Amino acid sequence: MDAKQNTFRQIGPTTYLSPIPTVLLGCADPQRGHRPNLITIAWAGVVNSKPPMISVSIRKSRLSHEIILGTGEFTLNLIGRELCEKMDYCGVKSGREVDKFAELGLTPIQADPLSIAPAVAQAPAFLSCKVVKVLELGSHDLFIAEVLQTHVADRFFTETGSIREEDMELISYVHGKYHTVGDFQGFFGYSVASEEALERRGMKK
Ligand SMILES: Cc1cc2nc3c(=O)[nH]c(=O)nc-3n(C[C@H](O)[C@H](O)[C@H](O)COP(=O)(O)O)c2cc1C
Repeated sequence: MDAKQNTFRQIGPTTYLSPIPTVLLGCADPQRGHRPNLITIAWAGVVNSKPPMISVSIRKSRLSHEIILGTGEFTLNLIGRELCEKMDYCGVKSGREVDKFAELGLTPIQADPLSIAPAVAQAPAFLSCKVVKVLELGSHDLFIAEVLQTHVADRFFTETGSIREEDMELISYVHGKYHTVGDFQGFFGYSVASEEALERRGMKK
């Protein structure tokens, strides 16, 4: 199919990048009196592959900002259709007012090899992260963290050990609206793949 050529309107300097993920960041600091907490984060990204590193941007006013500065660790829990409404709730309520795990019936679990930050037992997958750098950018602080372990729920593995991400029905965020990831369009490198490789992966050009 030919791609249409567009004409454009300027809408000013914005953060219009999309789609972006929404994740639930898990943190806690019992030594300073902070029970397990969850914050919804849309400004998250992959920033390095060796070692695996991710970033999250958090406003100073968030309770979670204070917690992570104190402990230097957090989990990032992926969000599928099942958790979408709970994820939204964690983005409009602060842990200062409510115990989000208890209120939502979510279960905090230990996130190996971290000692304090909890993961969400109901998440399809989660990353255990250790902060390595904090950059003050303006409205938000950017936390850059190394991923120390990745956990994927058993139910998403096939018998041969591959992971069926499509079954997670992951949520992407497009300017204030949540969508599940849509139709399969191709795989990494399919534009130049051989006929045999396309066929093996269930695609024919
Ligand atoms: C979809 C969505 C995405 C959000 N993304 C971010 C984000 O990337 N960074 C941030 O600081 N706050 C973000 N927020 C707002 C926080 O999640 C919200 O202020 C939350 O109540 C803070 O919780 P806490 O005070 O318990 O840490 C987002 C909210 C929603 C609904």
